[in-house]
Amino acid sequence: MMRRKLWLDVDTGIDDTLALLYAVASNDADLVGVSCSAGNVEVELVARNTAAVLALAGRGDIPVHVGRKGPIGRPLRTTPETHGPEGVGYAAIAGLPTPGLTSSDAVTALCDAVSAAPGEIHLVTLGPLTNIAAAVLREPALPGLLASMHVMGGCFRGTGNTAPRTEWNIHVDPEAAQVVLHAWGGGLAEELLPAVVGLDVTEAARLLPEHVGALLARGGAAPTVRTGPSWPMDAALPDGLPRTLVDALRFYFEFHAEYDGFYGAFIHDPFVVAAALDPGLIEVRPVTVDVEVSARLTSGETVADWRGHWGRPANARVAVRGDAAMFIDRMIERVGALFERVAS
Ligand code: RIB
Ligand code: CA
Repeated sequence: MMRRKLWLDVDTGIDDTLALLYAVASNDADLVGVSCSAGNVEVELVARNTAAVLALAGRGDIPVHVGRKGPIGRPLRTTPETHGPEGVGYAAIAGLPTPGLTSSDAVTALCDAVSAAPGEIHLVTLGPLTNIAAAVLREPALPGLLASMHVMGGCFRGTGNTAPRTEWNIHVDPEAAQVVLHAWGGGLAEELLPAVVGLDVTEAARLLPEHVGALLARGGAAPTVRTGPSWPMDAALPDGLPRTLVDALRFYFEFHAEYDGFYGAFIHDPFVVAAALDPGLIEVRPVTVDVEVSARLTSGETVADWRGHWGRPANARVAVRGDAAMFIDRMIERVGALFERVAS
């Protein structure tokens, strides 16, 4: 099976954690590098969380690079209420080994990796686009040097999770998103335009306790004593990946129970990684997208010109549908098998 070279830009983050596990668990992926952006939590915590999760998954060899400390043109806003004050919910990450953590700058590392392997790297962004904006300003040829680009961000036909019509990753750094979307403008082959996967698609993927139970069972870590409707979220689990992931998810499930009305979680980031590995999981449409950066009520809104009012060439491929059920099944099988490998 041909492995796709992946580079993830993350703001780990609980669903980012699942995205990292999905990437290293997938036989059709070769995770060659990770860059960290400030978003869910501060960039130093993002880098620590990312390196610790990769080490727990047996992949402490993957380099983790610290990126920009904050947005291009506005103060950093984090979301401890969603991902916990340290970005991984109730999981005890502090003090865990972080062998992959490097001192090399993320933007330099990304530009160097892409230039050294033109046409080979599939870039997947799972946080604010601050690092990617800095990279394309430094290396204007970046869009043509990638094999593909997938962006978790935006909302187009649905409602926002940060403001009425805005999605978190774009909302944190709209100026960076605008730089990226303008850089990936006309003249590129359609398949090189960023696949922008927004909440319209990612919120179809709801991880529920039963899915966590199936994943643990696939990995040989399912607790035998059933403790009620939230099983296995409050069950005794083996240390390492099972304990860490479920402690992180329990916090995330409680957030969604309070704000979204269900005990479970939207798992945006791993859905986009799955789509980068198998484009058949989503349906995309080429369209011109821009970002509002200055309006009082809609700053951070992704605006898609579906009917060509602006007369500008398409600069994105916006996801309009996704196979959430297929993705959830793959998540259970792949990450569950990783749990089994790590435990053996
Ligand atoms: O809006 C969802 C996105 O914001 C996800 O990437 C999540 O991790 C947060 O960063
Ligand atoms: Ca994220």
